[in-house]
Amino acid sequence: MPLPVEDVKAQVSLVDIVNAAVRLQQSGRYLKGLCPFHEEKTPSFFVFPERGTWRCFGCGRGGDVISFVMEREKSSFVEAVESLARDAGIALSRQEERKRSRNQVLAQINLEAAQLYQRLLNESQEAEPARRYLAARGIDKESIARFMLGFAPSRFDTVRTHLLQIGFSLEDLLAAGLLTEGNRGPYDRFRGRIMFPIRDARGRFCGFGARTLSAEIQPKYLNSPQTPIFDKSALLYGLDLAHQSLRERKRCIIVEGYTDVMMAHQHGETNVVASMGTALTEKHVQAVKGLTTNLVLALDPDAAGSAATLRGLEVARRAFDRVDTQVSVGDIMRLESTLAADIRIAVLPEGKDPDEVLREDVAAWLSCIDKAVPFVDYAFRQIAQQYDLGSTGGKRAAVQALAPLITDISDPVARQQYLKRLAQVLDLGIQSEVLMNLMHARRPTRQAAQFRGNGGAEPSQSEPEDAVDKLEQYLLGLLVVHPRAHKLAADVIDADDFHHPLYRQAYEHLLAARGSKVDLLDGLEEENVRELIDRLGGERNQEPKINDEYLPPTVVVAALRLKQRNVQAEYEDLQLLLANERPNENKHLGSQIRQEIRMSGEQLRQINLALKQTSFIRTA
Ligand code: UTP
Ligand code: MN
Repeated sequence: MPLPVEDVKAQVSLVDIVNAAVRLQQSGRYLKGLCPFHEEKTPSFFVFPERGTWRCFGCGRGGDVISFVMEREKSSFVEAVESLARDAGIALSRQEERKRSRNQVLAQINLEAAQLYQRLLNESQEAEPARRYLAARGIDKESIARFMLGFAPSRFDTVRTHLLQIGFSLEDLLAAGLLTEGNRGPYDRFRGRIMFPIRDARGRFCGFGARTLSAEIQPKYLNSPQTPIFDKSALLYGLDLAHQSLRERKRCIIVEGYTDVMMAHQHGETNVVASMGTALTEKHVQAVKGLTTNLVLALDPDAAGSAATLRGLEVARRAFDRVDTQVSVGDIMRLESTLAADIRIAVLPEGKDPDEVLREDVAAWLSCIDKAVPFVDYAFRQIAQQYDLGSTGGKRAAVQALAPLITDISDPVARQQYLKRLAQVLDLGIQSEVLMNLMHARRPTRQAAQFRGNGGAEPSQSEPEDAVDKLEQYLLGLLVVHPRAHKLAADVIDADDFHHPLYRQAYEHLLAARGSKVDLLDGLEEENVRELIDRLGGERNQEPKINDEYLPPTVVVAALRLKQRNVQAEYEDLQLLLANERPNENKHLGSQIRQEIRMSGEQLRQINLALKQTSFIRTA
């Protein structure tokens, strides 16, 4: 077992961990408090010490001690387990220890190699062209030393011979990525190149980028292969040197290239790191988020897609793929809202990379960074460009294209902010009809987005499931194992209240089966729905049986929560609409919206009242 997951769960007290973050109050067999993950005035956050689980009935989050730490520290599963193990003094497994010391060896090898290459750059005859090249590019001695640049001679065994001599094994040299396997044994991977050692945030030597001196030789940069300590999608070049500065300047600028970072640091702009030509990933963001959550991506116009060259949605999307190859603008926005990050785009002057801009004029660089626009605005503008925003039809089409990006966002507050920004970007202030459409487009498009996200399959386990899904999951699971509760739920919700299309389908099937468990799966042509129902049923069945007496209130409360969430979102959207619509200019619309607000408000009050009356958790 690679991680001491079971040890952690057995030895760490959930209540202690939660207590450090939330003031808990004993209430029978539960503890309750104000949910640390969303704003609330009355407690809907519960901890169940016996089962080692927690659940918030307000935001739908829940889980075990590990998921609590993940949520709390916005960390990964592995990080959460490691941090809990550390705090509890639980030793990592032997296998884990071995992996650690092995990684130390690999880092040691890279360090030794870097020192060797460095000596060779400074002293060897063969490195003379390399030294001249660096000087011609304006990279000064100090930078060369700070970034520990080096030179790999053209022989096939420079590193191999030296490192074998000081006691490393061929196997380890291969594993560290310094050698390549050849017909007559392993030989040096890097030859006749300028060496850029790549260190992680803590200054550990993980690998190399190696640049040719001649335009004819490809690739321009040869990098270390993927190794246990070299993962390009997680490392940011220069982060070890930018650490302090990111904290102080509260901003991290991400460029693409090694030389861009060097030139920035050489000019005192030390809060610059490079994604090394790869797409920005969540791991990159994770690597800096403890230092700052303000990120600026400095893109050259090619990558960002200049106003002139962008043609149509697909082109725009492809441009954003440079930012996150995984998928979409929606992902970045989710990244922003889950990490509370501020991601901006700075578009550099045509045909120049940061290296050139900085060398020519640092002030121009700084002004470029200061003019960076929020990613979302930028994305909206790029996508909107293909529509004729002068016409209502054009605006409607633009909204239809952009709505999925917004409706994807689970956090209602963030969603509202983006909706507002969209209205601003598209100047929709008085185009009431269009915004109305957007608002009503909310549900279907969210479903479409979720379908897109996993190719129409059921939500996969590995996918981070948001609060929305957890509520829906919980209720649907209850209904799967308790067919006789269907009517209770149906009195509160409609199929529409499930945003996830699969869940809605499953719910409709459950109702159609009229409480009969036998018939339940017969008519299901949809394999996905069947799988979902099986899975939810299985999960729910593993939990303690709900007492007959408690079943009705349990189901009703879950249904009410779902309804509450949906009506609340609608209510907020309407409020926003009212604020945006300048009702004085359109009296009819204004009164229509007010009327709807009154209705939603009344509905909310009723739901809240019902929730209070149905509460099955007996409070003192
Ligand atoms: P660039 O082509 O912009 O290189 O690639 P650069 O950093 O500006 O290099 P100079 O100025 O020509 O010396 C940006 C980054 O993409 C990665 C490197 O990390 C590079 O710094 N890259 C590029 C590669 O890994 N391999 C390549 O062949 C090219
Ligand atoms: Mn360059």
